[in-house]
Amino acid sequence: MFYVLPNPHAIAEYLSNLLVQKIQENPKLVLGLATGSTMEPIYAAFVVQAKQLGLNLNDIVTFNLDEYIGLAPEHPQSYHHYMQTHLFKPAGIRQEQVSLPSGMCRDVELECVNYSKKIQAAGGLDFQLLGIGTNGHIGFNEPGTPFSSLTHVVDLSENTRRDNGRFFEDKSQVPTQAITMGIEDIMSAKEVVLVATGSHKAEVMAKLFETAIDEDMPASIIKSHDNFKIIVDQAAAELLPAQAEQTRIAC
Ligand code: F6R
Repeated sequence: MFYVLPNPHAIAEYLSNLLVQKIQENPKLVLGLATGSTMEPIYAAFVVQAKQLGLNLNDIVTFNLDEYIGLAPEHPQSYHHYMQTHLFKPAGIRQEQVSLPSGMCRDVELECVNYSKKIQAAGGLDFQLLGIGTNGHIGFNEPGTPFSSLTHVVDLSENTRRDNGRFFEDKSQVPTQAITMGIEDIMSAKEVVLVATGSHKAEVMAKLFETAIDEDMPASIIKSHDNFKIIVDQAAAELLPAQAEQTRIAC
C-alpha cells in the first residue's frame, strides 16, 4: 500500500507517532533502523516527541541495516557515527541496546553470520524502517541480490557510490564495500515501513509501483510482506499513477 503525505515534515510526524505508539505498546521493541537523509527528520521528530513524553527507551533493542567496510565507528561518514549523532545520543539510547555491523572486523564473513544470528537471538525484528536507493536498493541490497540473502558483504554499485558521494568530501572516498542485513532478515520483521521523499525518488517509486516482485528491484519484495507500508511525500509521488494516489492519507 502506498501512502502519500504532503512533505518530509508530515512524514516525520507520522512516523514519530507510530514509533512512539509501538514502543508504548511494547517497551522491549526490537527495531530495525536505517540511515540516510530520509531518516534525519524522522529521528529528529522522534527525539523531540520521546523527550516531551518522557518515553521509556531503556529496554528497546535496535539493529541497523548496514555499515561501510573500512570505516571506523568514529569516522564522520560511518553509520555508527550517523546513528550516534541523529538518534542514539540525543534520545539517550545506550550502546548496549544497539547493534550495527562492524565495518572494521577482521573476519567479515563471520561478522555477517553472527549479525543475522544476533537478530534471531533477539527474537527477530518487530519493526523495520527502510529508505530506498534511486536504484531500488534496501539496506545495501543492490539490484540482483537474492531475496533469500542473510547479512552479507556487498560490492557497492557505481549508482550507490555516486548517490552517497554527496556525504563525502570526494567521491573517491566512498567505500567500495559494505555489510548489509540481507533481504530475508528484513522480510522476517513483523512489520516493514519504507519511506521515500523528494523528487529524486519519484522515478524509483513509479518503478516500484509498476514492478512485480523482482530481484532487480530489491524493494519490490516488501509488497509481498503481510504487514508493510510504503510512505512517500508529494514530490516522490509525482510519477505515481492515479490508482496509487487514491491511497492518500490525511494527517
Ligand atoms: C542506509 C540504507 C539505504 C538508504 C537509501 C536511501 O542505512 O538503508 O538503503 O535508506 O540509500 O538513502 P537516502 O535516505 O540518503 O536517500
